[in-house]
Amino acid sequence: MKEKFYITTPIYYPSDKLHIGHTYCTVATDAMARYKRMTGHDVIFLTGTDEHGQKIEDKAKAAGVSPQQFVDNIVLGERGVQDLWRLMNISNDRFIRTTDDYHVEAIQKIFKKMYENGDIYKGSYKGKYCKPCESFWTESQLVDGKCPDCGRPVEDAEEEAYFFRLSKYADRVKDLLENTDFLEPRSRVHEMVNNFIKPGLEDLCVSRTSFTWGVPVDFDPGHVVYVWVDALFNYTTALGFMNGKYDDYKDFWPADVHFVGKEIVRFHSIIWPAMLMSMDMPLPKKVFGHGWLLLDGGKMSKSKGNVVDPYVLAEKFGVDALRFFLLRTFPFGSDGNFSNEALISTINTDLANDLGNLLSRTVSMVEKYFGGTLPTEQTEDVEKDSELVGLISGLRALYEEQMEKYAFQNALAEIFNVISRANKYIDENAPWVLAKDMETNGKRLARVMYNLLEVLRVSAILLTPFMPTTSTEILRQIGACDCCSTWESAGVYASLKADASVVRGENLFPRIDEAKMLAELEAEREAAMKANAKVEVPVEEEITIDEFAKVSLRCAEVIACEKVEKSKKLLKLQVSLGYEMRQVVSGIAEAYSPEALIGKKVILVSNLKPAKLMGIDSYGMILATKSSDGVLRVAFLDPETENGAEVR
Ligand code: MSP
Repeated sequence: MKEKFYITTPIYYPSDKLHIGHTYCTVATDAMARYKRMTGHDVIFLTGTDEHGQKIEDKAKAAGVSPQQFVDNIVLGERGVQDLWRLMNISNDRFIRTTDDYHVEAIQKIFKKMYENGDIYKGSYKGKYCKPCESFWTESQLVDGKCPDCGRPVEDAEEEAYFFRLSKYADRVKDLLENTDFLEPRSRVHEMVNNFIKPGLEDLCVSRTSFTWGVPVDFDPGHVVYVWVDALFNYTTALGFMNGKYDDYKDFWPADVHFVGKEIVRFHSIIWPAMLMSMDMPLPKKVFGHGWLLLDGGKMSKSKGNVVDPYVLAEKFGVDALRFFLLRTFPFGSDGNFSNEALISTINTDLANDLGNLLSRTVSMVEKYFGGTLPTEQTEDVEKDSELVGLISGLRALYEEQMEKYAFQNALAEIFNVISRANKYIDENAPWVLAKDMETNGKRLARVMYNLLEVLRVSAILLTPFMPTTSTEILRQIGACDCCSTWESAGVYASLKADASVVRGENLFPRIDEAKMLAELEAEREAAMKANAKVEVPVEEEITIDEFAKVSLRCAEVIACEKVEKSKKLLKLQVSLGYEMRQVVSGIAEAYSPEALIGKKVILVSNLKPAKLMGIDSYGMILATKSSDGVLRVAFLDPETENGAEVR
């Protein structure tokens, strides 16, 4: 029976289109899944989307669609998540969406089970909340008063909520991290223990009442399950845990490895095992926290406006080249700086010069000197051949050792070491000189060619997890049959039949003109930015300082706030100017919940003529910005600003 192997990627937030950083993790997982299949395992590779939470609810509101429509568009729509994985040749066996019925049903049962066993209890939450990360933090975890993950401001939050007894599992989780290989790379263990466990693990708030887009707690309406509880259990519900959709839980759980980005290692190595302990379920065998792809030293994110579009890159450079670049260039456990220059350089050096050249030279020489088919009579030259033959024979084992450690970069380096040696072997043996006297040297020349084909064969097999299409094409061009294209045959020199016939094909990796390509990419980036931003230079009428002085702008604190009945857009606010209270109606309901505004200081146009909106009197106007994507953002003032102070 085949050994089982279960591997997962984090499930993606469909709040925006994915960028090359997201693609990195999925390509790595795909390479590992393909490698395991190649080495004879029965693999389940899971990916999917994490579709609940306040951020999605807010974005959907701003876009004027329902949350379900919003996520459907990003997951299933053109150039969405699923399109991207198809394009990148991702071989996932399953795709879970946390809005899938079977998952929702299972999460309700799981939540209830932890409630019934006493590990989830009801309390009241007071703390700091980072909305974009959907994470609660204690004061001591904040960095300069901001979210330690993303560096953005956090908000005070208080609500009735359910809590998970994370503190109860602190010792067991610490032991797991320190005394087993559960979490890798090892450096991440110290980070988790020192930053999170040693300062004291507090119980985790696992339900929300401030929004509705989540899995409802079925025994307490009004509460939805915290998105991370919902998300983490996807790894088990996608196998059929507590649902009838699949039946693989008993065969495939625990997972062999979860690949996750470094900022979510905390969730996967502390919260996840603790919840599994509470459920009395086996723990995953490993969590591997990989580094980030950075852009100019900073994290890629849409809000920084520096997203690198995988569609554009795949179109320009080819899917296999892009996949290869990601895993060849950056050590998987550490951060790496993405640049178009590095991408072009890797393609030109490894793929065009080394691999592409070896293939095209070898195939054309076999055609030119032997009409495409090697003779079976070949002469070995032990002195000249032994080093290369030794490398070919030993390559699979070296590669395997690295792949088993998830060291993709090193595994590829082993292959390219043999490829460069083969290119040198051509020069050492000078086939063009041998070919001058075929009668004397023909058999020797045949063996030289054969050895080169063997390098290409073994390399192509081992490259399959990284460049599936290219590998198949190389094997086709060198005339490798099915039985000498297997993992087993990659460990055996001379598996290719001696009279192999080559088939010339297209040049796999033409050299890229760097300057031309960079200019092209830059022009496209600028065009895309312009198209996205729809920047129109505003035509503005000038006013005098006296005219401006007529507008009275003052700091107002929001004391109370509620939705205006039957209106999607309006909120009714009571604000304090220090010397008086005012009622204001403002069209910001799609961007802010009433709770989110209470206590905030805003700018009020305080001498505006009163108006009636939906029959309600409004005495002033709150200033807000409108981004090019139509999202409204209130201009908040420093919380220290005095109520009623003039804004000038
Ligand atoms: N939804 C959660 C995961 C839940 S798993 C139970 C999430 N989603 S995410 O879309 O924000 O990120 C998904 C993965 O992409 C994370 O592992 C994250 O680290 C990874 N990456 C996002 N940007 C990245 C880079 N720039 N570089 C490398 N990986 C990055 O987190």
